Amino acid sequence: MSKPILIGPFTQLLPMSSLPLKGALSDEQLTIIKNGGIVVSEGKIEKVGVFEDLKSDDVDIYYIEGEQVCLPGFVDAHTHICFGGTRARDYAMRNAGISYLEIAKAGGGIWDTVTQTRKATQEELVEGILRRSQKHLQNGITTIEVKSGYGLSVEQELKMLRAIKQANEKTEADLVATCLAAHIKPKDWSGDNTYLEEIISTLFPIIKSENLANRVDAFVEESAFSPEEIVPYFQKAKEMGFDITVHADQFTAGGSEVAVQFDAVSADHLEASTEKEIQLLAKSDVISMALPGASIGLGCAYTPARKILDAGGALAIASDHNPGSAPMGDLLTQASILGTFEKLSNAEVLAGITFRAGAALKLTDRGTLQTGTQADFVAFPTNNYQEITYHQGQLKPNAVWKNGRRLPL
Ligand code: NIG
Ligand code: FE
Repeated sequence: MSKPILIGPFTQLLPMSSLPLKGALSDEQLTIIKNGGIVVSEGKIEKVGVFEDLKSDDVDIYYIEGEQVCLPGFVDAHTHICFGGTRARDYAMRNAGISYLEIAKAGGGIWDTVTQTRKATQEELVEGILRRSQKHLQNGITTIEVKSGYGLSVEQELKMLRAIKQANEKTEADLVATCLAAHIKPKDWSGDNTYLEEIISTLFPIIKSENLANRVDAFVEESAFSPEEIVPYFQKAKEMGFDITVHADQFTAGGSEVAVQFDAVSADHLEASTEKEIQLLAKSDVISMALPGASIGLGCAYTPARKILDAGGALAIASDHNPGSAPMGDLLTQASILGTFEKLSNAEVLAGITFRAGAALKLTDRGTLQTGTQADFVAFPTNNYQEITYHQGQLKPNAVWKNGRRLPL
């Protein structure tokens, strides 16, 4: 068996461990190890500490040149990177003053991407996921949640979920699949309200038997599914052992209450959440997920991240990368910008894209650098961690490790 490898020294190493899951964080709470090192064995972290103290005959050393700040690999806990086509036309229409919901009502929006995704082969979808995952890896994101939701029939949702599974076998990133069959009501479904019944009775069992996902999501919104309509879908999903996550309170409040009712792992969006929803979420175990990429893509309000944290809530930040509302797909840029608008500390922004995002995926083995966690980490060419959000995504990592292996970027 080969020896464990000591990697370092990093000018600053931020393990992001020993921080609470919920509530506001100040930068003084961050542990910063100067000239830190990480001992890696079999893809896992064996030890984290001061580089010189970790040297021994029992380890091989991988030296890091120059000034570097090391953080846990980032987790993007909400994306739609499995899709076909583009919605550049929607973007231009929105900027000409037509709203997202008006475009959707006129047959564009999500339905447009459904049409384009249905035309794509599974292989084409895999290629798209791999291309977008590679970009995420270059930006230090080592775990990526990926939703279906542009198929909207049993067969087409399966094509998406199988593409996600296939891409997961090919990319260095860990992809976490989520079934979003309740994204909107399919416009070609024959009039009655039985679409969700078909999903529950036919799609869910196949997802289980092929092990395609263990998470189920729905868009709870006036233009998609009402809080009442979605109950049987989530009830069945829960009975079958799926984790629940909700597109909640994006334009109108209501979804976050459903998330709390079903003990969801996360409620995502929350741009329209009021004091009532903020309090409800903060008192619950549901993680609040801000999606600043959607606010930037739509020109809408940001999630009230400051209020959520001050109320004692757990705040994660994700890119929502999708062809419609969030075409940019750059998590660090978006999280940094959310920080400026919502007055978030560096600790809050970084927690939101590391261990708090991991918790939203029920993955406690990542997002922190400590004994036993996955050896997923990222190094930025600077001597001060504050430079990372300061450059608003323009300071790029110069090294990324996944399961202890340094990736070619
Ligand atoms: O999270 N809001 C619903 N779903 C996506 C948008 C999908 C799209 O516009 O294609 C979101 O913003
Ligand atoms: Fe989304």
